[in-house]
Amino acid sequence: MYTAPLLLSYGILSLAAAEPIPPQQQPKNEQAINLLRPRALPNSPSGNYAPAVVPCPATKPTIRSAAAGLSQAETDWLKLRRPATVEPMINLIKRAGISGFDAEAYLKVAAANNISALPNIAIAASGGGYRALMNGAGFVAAADSRTAGATGPGGIGGLLQASTYLAGLSGGGWMVGSIMVNNFSTVENLRDTTWQFSRSIFVGPKERGVSVLNTASYWGDIVGQVSDKRDAGFETSLTDLWGRALSYQLINTPDGGPSYTFSSIAETDDFRQGKTPFPILVADGRAPGTKIVSLNATVFEFNPFEMGSFDPTVYGFAPTKYLASNFSGGTIPPDGRCVQGLDSASFVMGTSSSLFNIFLLQNISAVDSIPGFVGDALVSLLTDISADDNDIAQYVPNPFLGWGNNRSSPIYSASELDLVDGGEDLQNIPLTPLIQPARAVDVIFAVDSSADTPQNWPNATAMRATYDRSLSKIANGTLFPPVPDANTFINLGLNQRPTFFGCDPANFSISDKKQTVPPLIVYIPNAPYTAFSNVSTFTPSYSDAQRNDIIRNGFDSATQGNGTLDDKWTVCVACAVLSRSLWRTGTPIPAPCAECFGRYCWNGTVDDVDRGPYLPTFKIGNGTTAANGAAGMVRSPGMGMVGVVGLVVLGLMFV
Ligand SMILES: *[C@@H]1O[C@H](CO)[C@@H](O)[C@H](O)[C@H]1NC(C)=O
Ligand SMILES: *[C@@H]1O[C@H](CO)[C@@H](O)[C@H](O)[C@H]1NC(C)=O
Ligand SMILES: *[C@@H]1O[C@H](CO)[C@@H](O)[C@H](O)[C@H]1NC(C)=O
Ligand SMILES: *[C@@H]1O[C@H](CO)[C@@H](O)[C@H](O)[C@H]1NC(C)=O
Ligand SMILES: *[C@@H]1O[C@H](CO)[C@@H](O)[C@H](O)[C@H]1NC(C)=O
Ligand SMILES: *[C@@H]1O[C@H](CO)[C@@H](O)[C@H](O)[C@H]1NC(C)=O
Ligand SMILES: *[C@@H]1O[C@H](CO)[C@@H](O)[C@H](O)[C@H]1NC(C)=O
Ligand SMILES: *[C@@H]1O[C@H](CO)[C@@H](O)[C@H](O)[C@H]1NC(C)=O
Ligand SMILES: *[C@@H]1O[C@H](CO)[C@@H](O)[C@H](O)[C@H]1NC(C)=O
Ligand SMILES: *[C@@H]1O[C@H](CO)[C@@H](O)[C@H](O)[C@H]1NC(C)=O
Ligand SMILES: *[C@@H]1O[C@H](CO)[C@@H](O)[C@H](O)[C@H]1NC(C)=O
Ligand SMILES: *[C@@H]1O[C@H](CO)[C@@H](O)[C@H](O)[C@H]1NC(C)=O
Repeated sequence: MYTAPLLLSYGILSLAAAEPIPPQQQPKNEQAINLLRPRALPNSPSGNYAPAVVPCPATKPTIRSAAAGLSQAETDWLKLRRPATVEPMINLIKRAGISGFDAEAYLKVAAANNISALPNIAIAASGGGYRALMNGAGFVAAADSRTAGATGPGGIGGLLQASTYLAGLSGGGWMVGSIMVNNFSTVENLRDTTWQFSRSIFVGPKERGVSVLNTASYWGDIVGQVSDKRDAGFETSLTDLWGRALSYQLINTPDGGPSYTFSSIAETDDFRQGKTPFPILVADGRAPGTKIVSLNATVFEFNPFEMGSFDPTVYGFAPTKYLASNFSGGTIPPDGRCVQGLDSASFVMGTSSSLFNIFLLQNISAVDSIPGFVGDALVSLLTDISADDNDIAQYVPNPFLGWGNNRSSPIYSASELDLVDGGEDLQNIPLTPLIQPARAVDVIFAVDSSADTPQNWPNATAMRATYDRSLSKIANGTLFPPVPDANTFINLGLNQRPTFFGCDPANFSISDKKQTVPPLIVYIPNAPYTAFSNVSTFTPSYSDAQRNDIIRNGFDSATQGNGTLDDKWTVCVACAVLSRSLWRTGTPIPAPCAECFGRYCWNGTVDDVDRGPYLPTFKIGNGTTAANGAAGMVRSPGMGMVGVVGLVVLGLMFV
């Protein structure tokens, strides 16, 4: 139970002054006051943040087994998306110019003969708070042919248009969710209209549409929205408050889009026509009172059609739109209810980043302008849950209750499904959904913005976690390329420049009919190209200049400074895209590609000696803003994931 000493330690009781919750200030007609470009679909049946009971459709929603592979909806969607990627892929590869290789002829023949011969591309953006949002956004901006300068010399613009999947987790999930919920908006547009980080989520945005918004009414709105959900009979937790607050910076409406659902992405025109990639957000299963063990936590994915897991603990999927319906044994009983709206885009993005609940708790007590009723709301939200479980997002009822064949799995018998931040199992890059044989992905551009070292740079812990997991039973036979230890990454500079893993398909031993050669991984680590992008995971606000510098640094990382560092980089990106397809079709590797693979593929060399702290300096130019934890500074450990876990442990000590 949550006890007074702990509350005091967070300073919450001091906030719990009895101030009435102001009447709800929801705009009644969201469309009318939305002066910005209308986007996505605010289609929660309650018209608000709360889920609502709806009449069940003629064919009631059910839970399906993962044994069938992908959902029918995803399979149908792929029939539109895969062909739509051909033209952008031809343009990208032609522009790169692989000498001696006719990309257009190759891809056209492949597309005409058998679409599955075509390269199948995915982009994965890691967690790491705003740092991950900004660095990941820099990569996506560079990959997006709509970005100014992205298709010039040294550019990789069009990679996004050529991609089938776009996955994100935690801070990377904010980026992916924000792009998709805002009608597949560009990074530049979101940067200028929505990603306003100079005022933290604790104080809220300056304006609501045309009127000035103060911190009290901002929090009044949020608490009101979350109370609506609770009053409608649904479980609420800190994740609800966190997700709602976050959405004012992620969903481009004056009120942070309380009624926008994640499943509504499937109903937007561009998505339906296969003109956007398929978004996937990741969260981990964690029952109250248990700890995450990276090797056996269940990895859940949210996509516009489904939420579920390929892991043998679940091995099934629920329709995202109908989460919170009374599923039991996989169906809704005659007296059961159909519910829509639990998949609020805010709640899904908040779930994937629920680690920040603790950050919210910590800071809310420290910001003077936050009104007392917010403290009351926190107290009321925390009554059902113990302190060390503050990172949990509750999905009630558990859609997988009594479903499937694995009766020994705790999820089989839990009445509530508890999910936490997708990075808590150390797999901080959302790779698991993308290495599933059913998805047949050929190449993953894995953007790693993790804070592994004391200066908040990655050392590929996330990649090792996914590799280690691939050796354990829970991976259910999925393979992943071997990756070396942290010192090798640092000593060989593999965490400072792009590195390819799993280049040689022959290096995988397939022992089971259901196994397939995993995708080639193009690892793109966060490194200082033109800005010190190693800001702490828990820095809550950024000036516009610093935000822009970090996004630009991500762009420069994606393009190697528009070719400044390697004028063959675009060729190598094109070769990485083609690699598995060439192998599948038995096409000889063009000489320029062989040259790229020689330079970018990790060849198995290990150098695991500890050579002291990793303090990289600028790879190009000096940038304009030096972030905290900058190279050369004395160790000032920004709070990484490990720091937060420490905080949770600290919290426990007070109980
Ligand atoms: C979404 O974007 C597309 C392409 O930019 C545009 O044609 C469409 O009108 C937009 N839809 C909405 C609802 O804004
Ligand atoms: C296309 O190729 C895949 C494997 O690459 C194969 O399984 C499938 O049967 C082929 N389809 C057709 C229509 O040839
Ligand atoms: C994960 O492994 C740990 C240690 O082996 C064990 O205590 C725990 O019960 C396992 N969790 C699940 C969900 O299997
Ligand atoms: C994955 O797990 C499911 C459920 O336990 C099982 O039926 C299936 O055969 C497994 N797949 C592989 C490749 O092991
Ligand atoms: C449906 O789920 C709700 C929430 O868990 C529960 O209160 C209710 O009893 C369930 N109804 C049925 C018919 O199972
Ligand atoms: C928020 O909490 C973090 C972690 O405790 C702390 O470093 C930061 O200074 C706090 N920010 C504010 C505005 O209080
Ligand atoms: C069922 O789930 C447990 C974890 O709770 C796992 O260890 C086991 O492999 C799963 N069983 C099957 C048949 O997949
Ligand atoms: C690598 O990162 C992990 C945290 O993810 C950290 O514990 C470890 O000390 C780091 N090792 C090196 C050599 O940087
Ligand atoms: C690369 O091009 C982008 C887009 O034009 C630009 O913002 C960036 O500064 C360029 N990088 C370098 C190192 O010139
Ligand atoms: C493997 O890579 C290392 C550097 O990463 C290099 O020194 C070595 O020569 C390479 N070995 C081969 C056989 O290419
Ligand atoms: C090839 O596979 C072996 C065995 O899994 C592994 O030890 C080795 O590092 C792999 N080589 C490369 C270059 O990935
Ligand atoms: C870049 O940094 C170096 C070393 O700190 C300094 O000597 C140089 O003047 C800087 N250049 C610019 C353009 O700021």
